[in-house]
Amino acid sequence: MTQQLRVYVPPHPLIKHWLAVARDAATPSVLFRSAMTELGRWLTYEAAREWLATQDATVQTPLGVAPATLINPEVPMAVVPILRAGLGLLEGAQTLLPLASIYHLGLVRNEQTLQPMCYLNKLPEKFDPETRVLITDPMLATGGSMMATMHELIQRGVDPSLTRIVCVVAAPPALQKLSAAYPGLIIYAATIDEEVNDQGFILPGLGDAGDRIFGT
Ligand code: PRP
Repeated sequence: MTQQLRVYVPPHPLIKHWLAVARDAATPSVLFRSAMTELGRWLTYEAAREWLATQDATVQTPLGVAPATLINPEVPMAVVPILRAGLGLLEGAQTLLPLASIYHLGLVRNEQTLQPMCYLNKLPEKFDPETRVLITDPMLATGGSMMATMHELIQRGVDPSLTRIVCVVAAPPALQKLSAAYPGLIIYAATIDEEVNDQGFILPGLGDAGDRIFGT
């Protein structure tokens, strides 16, 4: 079967609500941060559904024995927030995945060329090939930053089929690039917007997520 990129936009009222709050230009930084935390939480909840490694077990209840399913603590889990804006989604993700290791990757786009430049790379030299990796970045615009991230991860042994991207707004240029390079990849987004302008901003989007999170 040929693999295809999958983009899930969960039809959940909490996701829609926090997306609306994040999009609103009148939302102040403090509330924008809350919106990012909530979106990180609910999108990670959705992404974790068929991504977390589980194991079957039985547990002794006060009255008998019940079949059970537990998270397998031996399968490594990693969250990779793309600085700066990916930090906004991290807290919500981390509350659901307390056992995950967090590996920061700092990327910034050159405002003229829109090419990403890496200024911090805390990725390990090698990942266990079984590692479940969740990448957080609110914006997939031209896709340059996420392509660079995937390249770094795959070089270090990450399996793209065990990788999930959690983003808020995904745009067609990023989805086209990722689809061509990583057809098995799965993305969770709050919305897919229509276009990216010449300055690399998603329209209608939510503005510059990094600036709005950190009030810069
Ligand atoms: C923004 C955003 C993504 C990237 C998306 O980061 O948070 O990381 O741009 O654009 P792309 O798909 O065209 O690569 P930015 O470079 O503005 O840095 P910041 O998060 O520090 O604000």
